[in-house]
Amino acid sequence: MLVLLLAAALSVPLANAHLVPWSKGMYGFNGVTGSINYNTDDAVHPLYQLSKDQWWFHHYNNLDEFPPADGDFLELPAGESFTVEIASNRGETTLSFNGAYASDWPDGKTYPEDYNVDTCITSPNMHTQNQSRAAGTAFAIAYTSDIKSVTPENLAVFTVRYHTPWKRLTSYDVPADMPACPEGGCICAWGWVPNGCGQPNMYQVPYRCTVTGAKSTAPVGAPKPPVWCENNDGACTKGPKQMIYWNQAEGDNIEVDGYDANGDFKSPAYNAKCGFPDGAQNDIFTGEPASVKTSAPATTTTTTATATAKSSPSSASSDSSSASSDSSSTGVVATSSSASSKYPSASASAAPSCKTRKRRRTESAVRAHRRRSVHAF
Ligand SMILES: *[C@@H]1O[C@H](CO)[C@@H](O)[C@H](O)[C@H]1NC(C)=O
Repeated sequence: MLVLLLAAALSVPLANAHLVPWSKGMYGFNGVTGSINYNTDDAVHPLYQLSKDQWWFHHYNNLDEFPPADGDFLELPAGESFTVEIASNRGETTLSFNGAYASDWPDGKTYPEDYNVDTCITSPNMHTQNQSRAAGTAFAIAYTSDIKSVTPENLAVFTVRYHTPWKRLTSYDVPADMPACPEGGCICAWGWVPNGCGQPNMYQVPYRCTVTGAKSTAPVGAPKPPVWCENNDGACTKGPKQMIYWNQAEGDNIEVDGYDANGDFKSPAYNAKCGFPDGAQNDIFTGEPASVKTSAPATTTTTTATATAKSSPSSASSDSSSASSDSSSTGVVATSSSASSKYPSASASAAPSCKTRKRRRTESAVRAHRRRSVHAF
């Protein structure tokens, strides 16, 4: 009976959901009400044509005001990779209900390996026709523990995964030279700008993160805005880059016009078209460090000790924390339990859409929307 109730509760948000990586270290892990919502999808809603104070760190529903529990960090092992669970609802990850509703895919269902929908996959809402067309996603980091001190100018992209979001378990590579974070951790953010296929919106979700096993002390340089540089490497922004901020009412840091090499309208994303290589961004340790209003940089010895100390309580308190080893092992369990069904259990023709929300749109954005939208939102 309890299971039936939970399943019924889950079926409601699924239809509308988009995708973000879930981790105990994220803001809004328990939702945005103050009580624990094991089925929260507050973090997944897209950002589109919002004012800067509303879209920055998903403030429009106060996600940035619900920090993770003390001691919970998204752990970033220097020179290795970390795994997160991309899903449309926390209920579809191993972080709720012991993973009872988690599958290989981000919505708890099963699809063919070569899942392809010519008119765009909308179940789950991946904003792509297939894996090869998935735009790419990224994590960025700011070397401060104070989320209020983070700005576009000190939040640098440090890892990118091409052809995501796609499956639930997704790994990102950490540069070997990532320095340690201050005692209270760093602030990270996940970003996704889909390649059309629906409303041309963006995603930005904050995390409390920490670098483990740091060996280098060279700071991350101040990031500069990425630019469109498809098939023209010389034009790309070199060194540390800001996240992509696009199609908002204010605060955009990139403009594009016209068509890409495929003949589609240009859509900036975390891929080569904007100068982001796949994997660890190893060119970010250059130039002047990004200026952060608070926290003076700690010395080598204390920061190293801090990062080591932080990792133990965090992983001890969790069997499915964001550390790569923990997530991988829980992921294996979830994978094997859902591997029995070979064919889609759900109709891919279901037509979920973004939640209807009133938004201000500029004339050009509405035009871009009409050009890009394959299905109506
Ligand atoms: C992916 O989708 C695009 C656009 O519909 C299509 O051109 C391409 O052939 C597809 N690739 C695969 C592997 O299905």
